[in-house]
Amino acid sequence: MSAPTDSTPRAPEGQLRHGGRALLLAIYTALRSLKLYPVENATVQKALDDLETSARALLAVESDLELRLAGDFIFVNATRLRLELDNYASFSHILAVLRAFDIGALRIHSTANRREWQILLSLLLSLSERGQPDERFDELFARLDAGQVKGLEIEHATQHDPDAEQAKEAAKRVYAQGVAVTKDVITGVRLGRATSVKKVKRAVQLIVDQVLNNETSVVGLTTIRDYDEYTFTHSVNVCIFSVALGKKLGFPRIQLYDLGMTALLHDVGKARVPVTILNKTTGLDEQEWRIMQAHPWLGAVTLFGMRAHDETPYRAILVAHEHHMKTDLSGYPKTIRPRQLGIFSRIVAVADGFDAATTRRSYQTVPIEPDQVLREMWENPKRGYDRVLVKALINLIGVYPVGTCVILDTFEIGIVAAPNPDGQQLNRPLVRIAVNTDGAMVPPPGEQVSLTEQDETGSFLRSIVKVTTPSRYGLTVGDYFV
Ligand SMILES: [Fe+2]
Ligand SMILES: [Fe+2]
Repeated sequence: MSAPTDSTPRAPEGQLRHGGRALLLAIYTALRSLKLYPVENATVQKALDDLETSARALLAVESDLELRLAGDFIFVNATRLRLELDNYASFSHILAVLRAFDIGALRIHSTANRREWQILLSLLLSLSERGQPDERFDELFARLDAGQVKGLEIEHATQHDPDAEQAKEAAKRVYAQGVAVTKDVITGVRLGRATSVKKVKRAVQLIVDQVLNNETSVVGLTTIRDYDEYTFTHSVNVCIFSVALGKKLGFPRIQLYDLGMTALLHDVGKARVPVTILNKTTGLDEQEWRIMQAHPWLGAVTLFGMRAHDETPYRAILVAHEHHMKTDLSGYPKTIRPRQLGIFSRIVAVADGFDAATTRRSYQTVPIEPDQVLREMWENPKRGYDRVLVKALINLIGVYPVGTCVILDTFEIGIVAAPNPDGQQLNRPLVRIAVNTDGAMVPPPGEQVSLTEQDETGSFLRSIVKVTTPSRYGLTVGDYFV
């Protein structure tokens, strides 16, 4: 991260973390003693003294202080405080108090004094029982103003859109259900148990409905990359990408159900590959490779026995068999006679290739960045993907998929939040700023900006310079999607 360019004093992170924890504890102690004793009481006076001292200690190194709530985190300026056992009480209590007033941030200026702390804390206690959080905030704000409190400033929490939150929750549930069903199928096959195709169908229908109604949320979930259960999440991701691609191609719902089903089951043959080979972290030897490469036809055979009532899932059998064949028919299994790969197989192959390359797996500690994967799929004919479908995938997820960490020409670092809504400017997605121009971390969720924003002269305010690894900057992508 670049060094701060202005002359504002700034404490090293460790000092902020330490001082921040002391400050939270001091606020907590003062709140508790004010609740128990009258203001004149020596315990209260001592607690207020301590609070003033710890705030001043931090203000000596940081000219302004900000306590900010983000999800379940508290930030002191740009430093996230870790919840640990010994600060659990103070941490969760303060979180609850600030939430009860809908306070998003508390700013502490260098002029903040003991009298002001006393007013703020007393009000937090006396107003806590009244009305709704919103009304409490307004009341508190007015009273602080009337009390001439200038050194302490409260900021209203930004309102969350309840519809968007609900949509996200629904998407998460559907995703989790997809994972559970896949797990069930694979384990069932491993143990030789019959699987309920009905359950699988139901899960696929829910995924299709999500993609049709709420595409961004559900496609966004495929970026959850720190999952251990690769085989299961992979199947669900491939299902989501395939259905979204089918939607782009204009398939009707009923066909999307079919496509989703084949995609979810494409790797079912892996249930017959020994787990030791599947999870191997080193390279496979020739014999192991041969077994691994048998999974397409093992899948076809498995599905043949998995008939639902009277119908045999022919299309799923075909996709399981063909999904590793390339458009030039290299790949595996080998085909002797010329054949035209089915459209479902070509779709699943593209979705599969993308997800496999971008997900971290046991033997792949550093996943390849999504933009490079897409470029390779698009440019290298040897990869053998259907180019029209790769183009559709790029259109679908943008050149920079959701969750990609990007460096901007303003020296800011951002996390891609959504593809550009107009669908045209693929290289100008919506981005959440995670590190500002000074190199300081912005607490999640960060300000969301569109890279299409221009100044009066028509030049873009921000452009992507390159893609980077979030961990290099101490960022956790998931934090920006709470
Ligand atoms: Fe496969
Ligand atoms: Fe696969």
